[in-house]
Amino acid sequence: MDWRDVTVYVNGDEYTKTIPVQMTLAEFLRDELFLTGTKIGCNEGECGACTVILDGVAVNSCLVLAVHADGKNVLTIEGVSEGELHPLQQAFLDAGAVQCGFCTPGMIMTAKALLDRDPAPSREVIRKEIEGNLCRCTGYNRIIDAVEKAALMLQKR
Ligand code: FES
Ligand code: FES
Repeated sequence: MDWRDVTVYVNGDEYTKTIPVQMTLAEFLRDELFLTGTKIGCNEGECGACTVILDGVAVNSCLVLAVHADGKNVLTIEGVSEGELHPLQQAFLDAGAVQCGFCTPGMIMTAKALLDRDPAPSREVIRKEIEGNLCRCTGYNRIIDAVEKAALMLQKR
């Protein structure tokens, strides 16, 4: 097995680890850093549960090798709140957009990447953006409501 040293900046902290080259970023976050907020569902790029933000872009971390994150910045669900819940987290709670919660971290990371580049997206844009994130529980409307509400909260800041 090939091993490699990587340094990844996760939620503002620097981590250097020696890892197998085939380790995914999702495995790296969960098994090496114990950041288990990032979920692994399908492990093949279909469900979005593992979504994190890599250098500003939402990615399925099960499809990214950890060695490809070497030297890069990763934001996970553990890094989105700043002392209090992020408006997206609060809006998901307020809108009843969390049921079993398994999809929620990935949904929030996808939504955050969207709102970071488009602070006032239409419902249609939100719907399109989250189409790679599967939710078995909510029927999606409450999730879209939550993203709209968070956008308004962020605009008032
Ligand atoms: S676990 Fe990565 S997309 Fe499903
Ligand atoms: S809340 Fe259960 S999968 Fe979305």
